[in-house]
Amino acid sequence: MTDFSYRWRDPVTDDEMSDLVRSHGGQPEPGWWNGIRRFSLGWVTARDTAGTLVGFVNVAWDGGDHAFLLDTKTRGTHQRRGIATAVVRLAVTHARAAGCEWLHVDFVPGLRSFYFDACGFRPTEAGLIRLTGSGS
Ligand SMILES: CC(C)(COP(=O)(O)OP(=O)(O)OC[C@H]1O[C@@H](n2cnc3c(N)ncnc32)[C@H](O)[C@@H]1OP(=O)(O)O)[C@@H](O)C(=O)NCCC(=O)NCCS
Repeated sequence: MTDFSYRWRDPVTDDEMSDLVRSHGGQPEPGWWNGIRRFSLGWVTARDTAGTLVGFVNVAWDGGDHAFLLDTKTRGTHQRRGIATAVVRLAVTHARAAGCEWLHVDFVPGLRSFYFDACGFRPTEAGLIRLTGSGS
C-alpha cells in the first residue's frame, strides 16, 4: 500500500475515469464523471508512483447529515491489494470531517465481505426502487 498515494478531491479527468472503468471490465460512459462530479461532497483517488489512477470512490451528499458512497473502483491489475479498503477509509474520514452523521452504501451480495468486514459498514434495512425500465 505504500506504493500508492491516496488523496481527497484530487483532480481526475473524464478520460482517466473511463480508463479505470475499462481496466476492471466495465463499459465507460464518456462524459459521466464530468457530469456528476459537481454533486459530490468529494472523492478519493489512489495513484501509483507514475501517477496512474488505480483506485477511486465517490461520496455524494444531501447537503446535511447523509453521505452516500458510490462507484468504488480498483484497476483490474491492482485488485486484492487493499486499495479499495484504503480509499473507502479515507472517504469515511473526510465525510466525518465534513460533519456528516451517516455514510450509506449498497452493493451486490458478493461484496458483503468487502463492505462489512474490510470497510466496517454494518448491515441495516434499506429499500430501493428502480425508476427506469419495467423491472423493480
Ligand atoms: C470491489 C472492488 C472495488 C474491490 O477492490 P480491491 O481494491 O480489490 O479491494 P481490497 O483489496 O481492498 O479488498 C479487501 C477485502 O475485501 C474483500 N473483497 C474485495 N474484493 C472482493 C470481491 N470481488 N469479491 C469478494 N470479496 C472481495 C476481500 O475480503 C478482500 O480481502 P482479501 O483480498 O484479503 O481476500 C474491485 O473488485 C472493483 O473495482 N470491482 C469492479 C467495480 C465494482 O464492482 N465496484 C463495486 C461497486 S459497489
